[in-house]
Amino acid sequence: MTALNVIGLVKTFREKSGDVHALGPVSLDVPQGSFLCVLGPTGCGKTTLLRTIAGLEIPDSGSVELMPRADGRLPVVGYVFQQGALFPWMSIYANVEFPLRAQGNIDRITRRQKVGAILDMVGLSDFSSSYPHQLSGGMQQRAALARSLVKQPDILLLDEPFSSLDTRTSQDLQENLRNTWKEAAATVVFVTHSIEEAVYLAGEVVVLGHRPGRIVRRQAINLPDPRSRLSPEFTEYLVSLRRTFEELVEERD
Ligand SMILES: Nc1ncnc2c1ncn2[C@@H]1O[C@H](COP(=O)(O)OP(=O)(O)OP(=O)(O)O)[C@@H](O)[C@H]1O
Ligand SMILES: [Mg+2]
Repeated sequence: MTALNVIGLVKTFREKSGDVHALGPVSLDVPQGSFLCVLGPTGCGKTTLLRTIAGLEIPDSGSVELMPRADGRLPVVGYVFQQGALFPWMSIYANVEFPLRAQGNIDRITRRQKVGAILDMVGLSDFSSSYPHQLSGGMQQRAALARSLVKQPDILLLDEPFSSLDTRTSQDLQENLRNTWKEAAATVVFVTHSIEEAVYLAGEVVVLGHRPGRIVRRQAINLPDPRSRLSPEFTEYLVSLRRTFEELVEERD
């Protein structure tokens, strides 16, 4: 079953200095419960694609269909921005609690349990009363991830959420995210420019090429859990996707 269907998306930014044909056409069906990584070099339109899927950007043409849930309701969509986008005037606790408060029907004790569990998962329990400016960039990014997970989204869209973190922290959070995804049966679209991150996380990788952003390759990643970055199969995927990347860069130059 499809969770998300992207049909012929085209987006051009009209600037004084000229038009930037950023995207498309891009068509993509994302099966329910899948973990899709959108991989591509900088500036190829990954953020534009994700923002358009989330309804934050209006396409010139094409459409995005979000399939209703089994109960007929619209899916809950979570979004993690490339840069945290936390409310600076709210504590970390209040930031993460915000989506639950906004829902209006979740009592304080339940909210506290949910926020506590999610802060624990991302390793920020000791910083719940801190404010965003008191945290490192990486910690702010973890708080943003917690805020997007607290409502248990059906569809989670993430834009390079771990790219500013050190390797160790980033790998810990990748593992957390994969485990969360397996438990929650959510559909995930994860944007990255890191081939290794994509191979570790994804069930399927979609490679975007430059100007305009378009799909140049779809690659299923069939690796057993837990995934090992050192296994020969892992390395095979890495090498093969790196080749596609190099071809893209040669094409551009
Ligand atoms: N609001 C905007 N106005 C004008 N041009 C834009 C805007 N947003 C993106 N672009 C242009 O569209 C192209 C795609 O940008 P986008 O941010 O989607 O790329 P990206 O793949 O996410 O890059 P990165 O890996 O650096 O985050 C780029 O050439 C960019 O300059
Ligand atoms: Mg981007």
